[in-house]
Amino acid sequence: MASASGITQLLLKLDNLTLDSISDKYPATHPEVNPYDLYRIHIGEVLAPIIGVAPEKIQPLIQWTNTIDKGDFVLPIPALRIKGAKPDALGAEWAAKFPEDDPLFDKPVAQGPFLSFFAKGAPLAQSLIPMIRNLGAEYGCNRFLGLKDPKDPSKGKKRIVVEFSSPNIAKPFHAGHLRSTIIGSFLANLYEGAGWDVVRINYLGDWGKQYGLLALAYERYGDEEALKKDPIDHLFRLYVKINAEKDGELAEIEAKKKEGQDVTDLLANSLDEQARRYFRKMTDKDTDALALWKRFRDLSIVRYKATYARLNIKFDEYSGESQVTEEAMEKVAKEMAEKGISKEDQGAVLVDFTELIPGKEGKRLGKTVIRKRDGTALYLTRDIAELLGRYQKYGFDNMIYVVASQQDLHLQQLFKIIELLGYKDIAQRCQHINFGLVLGMSTRKGTVKFLDDILRDCADHMHDVMRKNENKYAQVENPEGTADTLGISSVMTQDMSGKRGNNYTFDLAVMTSFEGDTGPYLQYAHTRLSSIKRRADISDEELANADLSLLTEPHAINVVRLLAQWPDVAQNTLRTLEPTTVVTYLFRLTHVISSSYDHLQVVGSEPALKAARMALYDASRIVVGNCMRLLGLSPLER
Ligand code: ARG
Repeated sequence: MASASGITQLLLKLDNLTLDSISDKYPATHPEVNPYDLYRIHIGEVLAPIIGVAPEKIQPLIQWTNTIDKGDFVLPIPALRIKGAKPDALGAEWAAKFPEDDPLFDKPVAQGPFLSFFAKGAPLAQSLIPMIRNLGAEYGCNRFLGLKDPKDPSKGKKRIVVEFSSPNIAKPFHAGHLRSTIIGSFLANLYEGAGWDVVRINYLGDWGKQYGLLALAYERYGDEEALKKDPIDHLFRLYVKINAEKDGELAEIEAKKKEGQDVTDLLANSLDEQARRYFRKMTDKDTDALALWKRFRDLSIVRYKATYARLNIKFDEYSGESQVTEEAMEKVAKEMAEKGISKEDQGAVLVDFTELIPGKEGKRLGKTVIRKRDGTALYLTRDIAELLGRYQKYGFDNMIYVVASQQDLHLQQLFKIIELLGYKDIAQRCQHINFGLVLGMSTRKGTVKFLDDILRDCADHMHDVMRKNENKYAQVENPEGTADTLGISSVMTQDMSGKRGNNYTFDLAVMTSFEGDTGPYLQYAHTRLSSIKRRADISDEELANADLSLLTEPHAINVVRLLAQWPDVAQNTLRTLEPTTVVTYLFRLTHVISSSYDHLQVVGSEPALKAARMALYDASRIVVGNCMRLLGLSPLER
């Protein structure tokens, strides 16, 4: 196995370990894709006789560090629960007993209750760089994590459904949808990289009385050509127009009513009432009404797909509120009534959590209607049936809903209802990944209709920024395409920089700058690494045979130490489910790489050194690219 080459080199230095013995003794480790697993095992094996604790007990306690000046690993001594002695004293004693000539580590440093370990540069560089170059795009993918049985791949993968983006047809694509798109796509990539079977679902808002209103607008003002040319734009215009009319009409009726006039007839013929009747036709499966509706939906999806493609996003299913059948809803409605979860209240059906669940939790969940008095279902009703339908269809192990924090209560109610129905195991598989608001998101060209408008605005802005440097601008081959990619990277990086739960301010000037921790900076870092490779003009064979023992400078070793962390960072991200875990690492890495350039020249160095440094930068390019792709960014070469 090619990828074992790096690790074999390391193992040769350690007399008592083989890949087989490791997999028996430490089943959760995978040194063949994560060399640092072997480093942790080694620490345990060396310390075990010194401290009198089994190595398998030590290895899982070893933590990584956030800054490499604190070491590559730390052992928090209190975690070993050794009675009697003070952790500080133990640390000093163990450090002193750690062998002077360890092949992988310098002597550990006792720092209070921690023991810090610094990896020796040479063996790490010599094993890691070939491993990264062999694994390529796979480096950082912990595919075994998604296996049903990590020991037996033939048992198949675990499956996760990730529902994200989920805009509403004919309504503006707002910041919540933008964030859901960015974060959801990232999470889907993350699970895919970890070897899960990932199903990406877009749950469109495409049903309800307002879509009856939209159909009325189309009957009055619709334009076949305009619909075909740009359905999202056309439907949005119709929607805005008819809503203004409806609101005006209702205001007039209200005024007349105040004057004491009889408005019964006016109300019965109002747009609002007509919309309600039209929607009723849709739920009653009227062929014409549904055919028109399907055309709106299908044409919109074609356009959505094109835009999502710009972000490298492909959905496996365009589900949506319209796809939830009345039958499915009736079935759960019956079940809910039978199980005493719902009750009738003045013709409507509701769930009263305050009665069902005593105490704080019930109070927090409150009361919610699931059938209106006129018999129509609601957003929550559809979600209940949809969730159960998805479980039937996909038998998922997990399902993630990527939806703004404003809908926290909605999703809590949803999961609770599923649990109360007796499907606790299904409810436990579901998770709401929420996120904060975007403040001040406005575009220069006015109203946001769809994602395209946001992306176009960022690209335009980026294009202006690029034009400011005339010299460099003249060298860019495809300025429009580059501006487009940079614009997209700007928005996405800004969005993923902070913790999901935080609000942030949409600031075009800040996010499109090449300075600071921005998307353009990341792209710059990747293009620079790509250009070194182009200019160095060294064959892959030369790189593969490079004498990596020449990489002795602290700058080179620091880059290697950060590169070695990537599989751990990726694995940790599965716990945090925070894009910022990757983004933060990526900025640390690119900063260390960029401060190394002055010290590690490639072009102009003598051939052997040139090849060694080039191999280091090639490995760096691979890792930076892998991180960027996981985040959903398209790394630029030039
Ligand atoms: N379309 C909804 C909205 O714009 C988001 C859908 C969230 N997903 C769900 N299963 N309810 O608010």
